[in-house]
Amino acid sequence: MSKVILEEIKNKEFYSTPNFTKAEVAETLDKVVHIVDHMMLKFHDDSFPRACSKDYVYGSVGNLEWDASNNESIWTTSFWTGILWLMYEYTGNEKYMLEAKKHSESFRERIDRYYNEDQNKAGLNHHDLGFLYSLSTVADYKVTGSKRALETSLMAAKLLSNRYIDKAKILQAWGDMNDENQRGRMIIDCNLNIPLLYFADQFEPDKQYYQMAYNHATTASQYIIREDASTYHTFHMDTETGKPRFGSTHQGYSDESCWARGQAWGIMGFPISYTYTKDKIFLEKAKCLANYFLNRLPKDKVCNWDLIFTEDDGQRDTSAAAIAAIGLLELSNSLEETDELKKVYYNACLAITKALSQKYLGTNQEGILKSGVYFYHGNLGIEEYVIFGDYFFVELLMRLYKDWNPYW
Ligand code: GLY
Repeated sequence: MSKVILEEIKNKEFYSTPNFTKAEVAETLDKVVHIVDHMMLKFHDDSFPRACSKDYVYGSVGNLEWDASNNESIWTTSFWTGILWLMYEYTGNEKYMLEAKKHSESFRERIDRYYNEDQNKAGLNHHDLGFLYSLSTVADYKVTGSKRALETSLMAAKLLSNRYIDKAKILQAWGDMNDENQRGRMIIDCNLNIPLLYFADQFEPDKQYYQMAYNHATTASQYIIREDASTYHTFHMDTETGKPRFGSTHQGYSDESCWARGQAWGIMGFPISYTYTKDKIFLEKAKCLANYFLNRLPKDKVCNWDLIFTEDDGQRDTSAAAIAAIGLLELSNSLEETDELKKVYYNACLAITKALSQKYLGTNQEGILKSGVYFYHGNLGIEEYVIFGDYFFVELLMRLYKDWNPYW
């Protein structure tokens, strides 16, 4: 395994704690509550916000209605569900919980469709089962203790485990498991899918879910991270020999650039794997990724959509900023008191949260976080709300507001 560089943090501002109080976090959360209440007028029952807005207004997509025209939302409906669970946890108002519980049934139906009807119609032939079910039925189980939600979560974990390739020690991201072009491809985003397996392992320890998740995280930490601590979006493994093949991108600027959200999935995801496995290699690698990320921020501390761009007037991706900020906090919480980066990461998290709250909060009540990017080269969702950015920003605020039990 090659050594990964831990850059020195260049911006000395991160050595002091920014002035952004808990009361200000709560103030932002209160504004979010108003936005969500407005969004709920349009999005309820089987109407969910699409993956990204158009001219800062979300269209609607059904969790149970799939066709070629809404494929971009195939992995994203649960972010709205997750926002509702967070709103319930923040306010205690049951209306959010009742709506989110309807979603649990909808996600159950999606799995039932997979088994009983046309598999493609269920839209579950990919690894993003983790995003879909961690924020819906796992959250339901963790917040309300629902046995049915647990049962559905375990069904989802089983489906996800079918994507594990033992020889390569990865979960294949997309496509049919026998598709020559997709077989053996992992993507860094999967860091947030494997928590579903860690979760399920606590209830079904005989199914090897923990080992699959741990192996996948280990393989990703070995090959998806370059020596300079930037990351590939996707990496191809040889599924016969288990040997690494090559890295490439799907949503980044180029194969050799560093897609900001990919880096953020790493900064958040590896520390989550640490919390389950206690393997310190994940913290070590996450530190390298974090420093690379922090050293490429523009002056306002909100990253551009690919870290090849560092200029102040570049196209921001606030979703990457919010995800990375959660990772910095998680990383900070896991590091020893003696590690000087512990405080640096906390400060950086707060600085990013402050910038997002003050400059990027939605102003038209149609979404939560402005200036997200979904897929730049696909010309999809550029300088728009993206529902995952909205979700992770609210999770970030909740984590700073109280001692919150993650859905991951
Ligand atoms: N997981 C896909 C994305 O981050 O856009």
